[in-house]
Amino acid sequence: MKVVMCAAEMVPFSKVGGLADVLGALPVALEKQGCQVVVVVPGYKDEGSAGIKIESLSPDISVANIGKATKVYFVESKKFFDRDGIYGDVDQDYKDNLDRFLYYSRRTIALLKEIDFQPEIIHLHDWHTCLIAIFLKELYAREEFFKQAKTVLTIHNVVYQGQFPKQEFPKLGLPERLLGPGGLEFDGRLNLLKGGIEYCDAISTVSATYSREIQTEEYGAGLAEVLKKHRSSLIGILNGVDYSIWDPKNDKYIASTYLSDNLEGKSKDKEDLQRACGLNIRADLPLFGMVSRLTGQKGIDLLIKAIDQICGMDLQLVVLGMPELNYYPVLEKLAKRYPGKFCLRPGFDNPLSHKVYAGSDLFLMPSKYEPCGLSQLISFRYGTLPLVFKTGGLADTVSPENGFVFDRYDQEGLVEAIQRAISAYADKPGWETLVKKVMKYDFSWDEAARQYLELYERV
Ligand code: ADP
Ligand code: GLC
Repeated sequence: MKVVMCAAEMVPFSKVGGLADVLGALPVALEKQGCQVVVVVPGYKDEGSAGIKIESLSPDISVANIGKATKVYFVESKKFFDRDGIYGDVDQDYKDNLDRFLYYSRRTIALLKEIDFQPEIIHLHDWHTCLIAIFLKELYAREEFFKQAKTVLTIHNVVYQGQFPKQEFPKLGLPERLLGPGGLEFDGRLNLLKGGIEYCDAISTVSATYSREIQTEEYGAGLAEVLKKHRSSLIGILNGVDYSIWDPKNDKYIASTYLSDNLEGKSKDKEDLQRACGLNIRADLPLFGMVSRLTGQKGIDLLIKAIDQICGMDLQLVVLGMPELNYYPVLEKLAKRYPGKFCLRPGFDNPLSHKVYAGSDLFLMPSKYEPCGLSQLISFRYGTLPLVFKTGGLADTVSPENGFVFDRYDQEGLVEAIQRAISAYADKPGWETLVKKVMKYDFSWDEAARQYLELYERV
């Protein structure tokens, strides 16, 4: 089957969050299932630093190879993509995001003809790529080249919808009637995700629970009714983990590699992390790690509310996150209160993130909502037990059998789960049994790729 995969970010070329991890792994997993895959992503400023050879194909298109025969095409533009950020600066989205992803969408469609890749499936991820489905149905429907192409949209986070003023509609070059409730309009604005939901042949999201949650008012971010209308073509497929990147067995970023039958390396990694973060060197204390976009989604509000109670307990805490205007300065102040115990590290730091997964005993993920979550799955492989709020993909993957779960989203719920985790940590043999068990879990991409292929075939 011939598949085109489109998204705004992709490991190892660009990354803000889990979407990039998905794009880095799913195409190759699909190739293993026998698909012929082409990926098209925007080419940002730093794409060349990934250590993969990238060749120029034309003045505005470059190409790289991944897997055995999967090609990644980069849509380049000095005007739109040659910037430090992917979606915006630290505190706000770029003002011209509609123009940027409109350019990317048009260029992607043209590119497929230029490289003569006639897709059976065009797999779109999130709002940035939704215009492709709309253009195909509205403007290219009669073209022989795209006649067989079906579109699949994966929603990684329904909160990000690509909303713009209606006045910008004319620049899309689409028929006037699309500026209505059956098309791109929602609540008086252009809404690209909503358009994608209406136009794609199938919709998926990244866990079964989240596929149900987004059909409710609480989690649907306004689109619950639209999603309900399409529920017969909406399914949940859980993400996988790329174990060629995330495995303590051969992780090049950690001080000491380790396997589940000998955890000595993990103890060394804990010490290494404590040293790197200026924490007291204490093997006896449970070390909680967090690697996160510091946004409202990730439960930082709870952490802030509960921090004095948490830091009053016998534990240590490392938080790695991008400085976000809302939460970062508050966290910074709090971390200063607890030197040696609570360390806050700013930035997007991939090498340090590996050290946190390996060196921590527990991974803290009190997300208010979480479509899938990759961090808890990565943590399993490193023998780092997740502590999560029961929502979305966290509810589907973490249970009292393999971690710590709280189901009331409030300060008490979080604190009580942390107390439970500390008690469990005190039982050394019990803890080690649990660590060894979760390290053997297999969340590799093969299963997800099989399910996507099934979906493609159905479509
Ligand atoms: P989301 O996509 O909502 O951010 P996921 O759990 O799906 O959440 O994926 C987050 C990914 O981004 C993981 O690979 C995680 O390790 C990585 N990540 C998040 N914040 C940082 C950071 N500050 N530095 C390095 N990696 C980060
Ligand atoms: C989004 C979600 C996250 C998910 C990731 C990859 O960023 O917030 O839960 O794991 O996409 O699908």
